[in-house]
Amino acid sequence: MDTLTANKPASQPTQDFLPLNGTDHVEFYVGNAKQSAYYYQSAWGYELVAYAGPETGVRDRASYVLQQGKIRIVLTTAMQPDHEIAAHQIKHGDGVKVLALWVDDAKKSFEETTKRGAKPVLKPETITDEHGEVVIAAIQTYGETIHKFIERKNYKGAFLPGYQAWKSSVPVKPVGLKHVDHCVGNVELGQMNEWVKFYEDVMGFKLLLTFDDKDISTEYSALMSKVVSNGNGYVKFPINEPAEGRRKSQIEEYIDFYHGSGVQHMAIATDDIIATVAELRSRGVEFLKVPDVYYDEVWDRVGVIKEDRDKIKHLNILVDRDDEGYLLQLFSKPIQDRPTFFFEIIQRAGAKSFGKGNFKALFESIEREQELRGNL
Ligand code: FE2
Repeated sequence: MDTLTANKPASQPTQDFLPLNGTDHVEFYVGNAKQSAYYYQSAWGYELVAYAGPETGVRDRASYVLQQGKIRIVLTTAMQPDHEIAAHQIKHGDGVKVLALWVDDAKKSFEETTKRGAKPVLKPETITDEHGEVVIAAIQTYGETIHKFIERKNYKGAFLPGYQAWKSSVPVKPVGLKHVDHCVGNVELGQMNEWVKFYEDVMGFKLLLTFDDKDISTEYSALMSKVVSNGNGYVKFPINEPAEGRRKSQIEEYIDFYHGSGVQHMAIATDDIIATVAELRSRGVEFLKVPDVYYDEVWDRVGVIKEDRDKIKHLNILVDRDDEGYLLQLFSKPIQDRPTFFFEIIQRAGAKSFGKGNFKALFESIEREQELRGNL
């Protein structure tokens, strides 16, 4: 067995105390939600579906709800400076505040996790409008990030009570984004195992794979990463921490600019990564550049794939293989000025892993960008 890949021994079957239907939504606190919403619509092809703000009677903030496939992103800005949303944005820059999980029973989710040690953020609350009712609760995770539990089985509205159905004012062309594949957290040095334990003990997740700095290191920077997954595998959270390198780890750069632990990237699944990435590139979305030499050796490493190799190389898409199949993936550059949050586009062809074979090629590429910013 690969000594770097530790599968946890099968434990006794226990009932999942936190059944999850998937990711409900991801909410970003941003400096200018109106302009961010335009970027998500025009560049990434998300449809504006709901809105809350002064025009709908919400005085302290504006929130835009964007949807493509099963992915729902909320962009929120404070209307006044003395607001926790404004304080969050000043400290962290634009970033993820809420990883919301879709559950059948928000009250039970809150009780099961808080009794195991989760720090409560919002006690279960039922909110209603003419479309029905939603139960919401929330707990703290790494940094200032929170998990909301959203129970919406008795709700038919556009998003949540308090929001109104809204339409894009610009033409929106989807690019084939389907669902959230995984959301990655960067935590401070020495905290990875603590947060893995949190997801295991408090949320009932299982450790999937571990990478250590022998897997993921370059001459200059390194990281350690562990992946936790919920019972049905719908929700996967890799957790990274910086590792010792000759120069500054990219995880440390993130933490310096985010001012603490936070969400590093969200991976979005597509069924046709060639079409998705070609379209995103044509709309000006920037991706990390992988050196041409990557393609000199990649086909020996991954073998036969269905997709056109020339197109893969031309679009600078990464390829990796594990025991179960292969995957195609690509990472955007940070989507705000701070070198913090970015997106991954992923297409799985059997593979259930996260692109370990690409990590080294990828990090060398990230470091070239880091060097350009003077942060290496
Ligand atoms: Fe990823």
